[in-house]
Amino acid sequence: MPPMTNTSDIDKAALGRLFPGHVREIQARHERALERAGAAHAVIFAGAPKPVFLDDYNYNFKANPHFLSWVPLLTNPWSLVVCTPGEKPVLVYFQEKDYWHTPPADPDGFWTDVFDIRIVHTVEDIARHLPQALNKCIYIGEAQNDAQAFGIERINPKSAINILHRARGTKTEYEVACMRAASRRGARGHRAAEAAFREQASEFEIHLAYCKATEHTEKELPYGNIIALNEHSAVLHYQHQSLERPAAYRSFLIDAGARVNGYASDITRTYSFDNADYAALIKRFDALQLSLVAEVSAGMNFAELHLRAHRLLADLLVEVDLARGSADALIESGVTSAFYPHGLGHLLGLQVHDMGGFMADDEGTRIDPPSGHPFLRLTRTLEENQVLTIEPGLYVIDLLLADLAGTPGEKMINPKRVDWLRPFGGMRIEDNVRVTASGSENLTRDAFAAA
Ligand code: GLY
Ligand code: MN
Ligand code: MN
Repeated sequence: MPPMTNTSDIDKAALGRLFPGHVREIQARHERALERAGAAHAVIFAGAPKPVFLDDYNYNFKANPHFLSWVPLLTNPWSLVVCTPGEKPVLVYFQEKDYWHTPPADPDGFWTDVFDIRIVHTVEDIARHLPQALNKCIYIGEAQNDAQAFGIERINPKSAINILHRARGTKTEYEVACMRAASRRGARGHRAAEAAFREQASEFEIHLAYCKATEHTEKELPYGNIIALNEHSAVLHYQHQSLERPAAYRSFLIDAGARVNGYASDITRTYSFDNADYAALIKRFDALQLSLVAEVSAGMNFAELHLRAHRLLADLLVEVDLARGSADALIESGVTSAFYPHGLGHLLGLQVHDMGGFMADDEGTRIDPPSGHPFLRLTRTLEENQVLTIEPGLYVIDLLLADLAGTPGEKMINPKRVDWLRPFGGMRIEDNVRVTASGSENLTRDAFAAA
């Protein structure tokens, strides 16, 4: 059994000290967005519950990340923030009188002082706290129907949204502190999950051990846990949690994160059960991942780092006899992409895949990924205080290897060695790093060291 841990080690007082500066920055971003959109007020809506078809309950509520950038209210549907340049932001706090559900508690926490808080109990009351001139408002959020837009016509105007999405790539001190805490929370879960794997638990049991150690209910997780034993490790977003304990334990890939005040960690680790050769390959791959992290620094072009990962992987494939040929040939023939078909990393924050990874500027000019690499989600130049993942992978994906049949790539692959690797599925190592002027801070490695 993993030891009981608890989230009381999150330093709320320290977060509280950083929060006013964070909101000043969020306000400044919205003021720039308003100016660009030629509007006077921004109304940032948390979102409304989504009912299940033909039934009377709702899907898990996921708050609008733009709303969460203002205030850490993860489970407050119908609340909203009104931002008017030069004024204290208004938080319309929706507290429905509801005896079917527990309504939100009264506002309480380090975040309350920075808002002019208006508590409302009915949807009709919300409108009374909106600016009079609705035609001077822009609405930021998802409006599933007209009632949810409150009569505001300009919904998510591109001119404003581009500024907000691009700005969210760079984290405030408060956000970095939340993300460090989310990494520590995730690392505790990863330790417990590895222990459960060593005890030969099922995927489902490992998932439960993870939730227990992170103190997350399943619906609070930043994304569905990927808990993959043996061949399942080759499925990039393996979505099941098998109740069966497999007959033999060979490998374990876990991609699982945690959240603090809405901010996510996104962490992957891969383990060998008792096969020394596979353990050695993981160790070698871990060194490759760390060498990529070591290259991160402000000013770097991330697409180039992604291509560099393919070069390093080509060398590794040759070194461990999975393939033969020059790095150029292995890349051009599609061999490295067959073993590693996803992007090197992505921006991380209130969303696991934060918006803005392709944006060259505030106008939203798109920087496409390099040809042949459609799944790379971060092409923009790295800047200080961006937080991103570095997550190279190496898998046996027969669907992709089959595509190489009859091409020059087929002859470069060593099928015997692929047969050896197949029962282990594959590996991915994923860390979350903050870009600094001269390098990076590895939130994940720091968190494992502290766990
Ligand atoms: N957990 C999804 C990803 O790594 O992007
Ligand atoms: Mn991940
Ligand atoms: Mn990721």
